[in-house]
Amino acid sequence: MMEYLASVRLGQELPEHTYLRSLGPVRYLMAGHALEFDRPVTFLVGENGTGKSTLLEGVAVACGFNPEGGTRNFTFSTRATHSCLGEYLTPARRRYPKDGFFLRAESFYNVATNIDEMEESPWGSGILKSYGGRSLHRQSHGESFLALVQNRLGGEGLYLLDEPEAALSPSRLLTLMAEMDALVKADSQFVVATHSPILMAFPNARIYLLDGEGIRPADYRETEHYQLTRQFLENPERMLHYLLGNSD
Ligand SMILES: Nc1ncnc2c1ncn2[C@@H]1O[C@H](COP(=O)(O)OP(=O)(O)OP(=O)(O)O)[C@@H](O)[C@H]1O
Ligand SMILES: [Mg+2]
Repeated sequence: MMEYLASVRLGQELPEHTYLRSLGPVRYLMAGHALEFDRPVTFLVGENGTGKSTLLEGVAVACGFNPEGGTRNFTFSTRATHSCLGEYLTPARRRYPKDGFFLRAESFYNVATNIDEMEESPWGSGILKSYGGRSLHRQSHGESFLALVQNRLGGEGLYLLDEPEAALSPSRLLTLMAEMDALVKADSQFVVATHSPILMAFPNARIYLLDGEGIRPADYRETEHYQLTRQFLENPERMLHYLLGNSD
């Protein structure tokens, strides 16, 4: 497969006073490095607050998506919670996808509302059908998310997802991985910010570890997510004993 989005780099200098300059991944780009997307699936992982969502949103904006999430057709804007990193990023594209979706963790609700509004407008009716026929507001978080993936993502697409695991039970997460595999086989590319040690086991994926130092590729078993989860599940009592300091 030839990726749609091959890399992003900082195309112009960031303003002097922005919190973006304090983020390790942004500083990595400021040093002139490009972030390469060299596999069909790329994961952005790292501690809370390291800049995964900021970077993913920057990539989305640089690729022409609405920063609030959704397809490139959505033009709604509720609050200016988005950062402006995307305006400074230059994407290198190999070819253009036929389909695309940006799922921003915090704004799935707004995407659902917007779909409902479009369904009610005379020129937009029928749009609900491509999302499974039921208002995403009348389904649970996990149900509506899977309905979106199963009905709306059509292949030959560039899909940017921020913590898709948040909505899903472990078994539905495996369903998501099977859906992702089918979409990859249908010539799609994913960039996914995640904390899930299950999701990031997706075969042949590139895992980028973000921290205060920058961005570096990591092996699955090298990640803290894998190691800590494994240690915990091997012996929950032992780890909790050390963590909570109970003497019994
Ligand atoms: N508008 C803003 N002004 C100042 N700082 C901000 C702003 N938006 C985000 N930040 C800070 O930027 C950092 C990176 O945030 P970001 O949401 O990208 O983290 P993350 O890696 O996605 O974390 P998590 O794993 O918790 O989702 C955080 O420390 C956050 O507090
Ligand atoms: Mg985040």
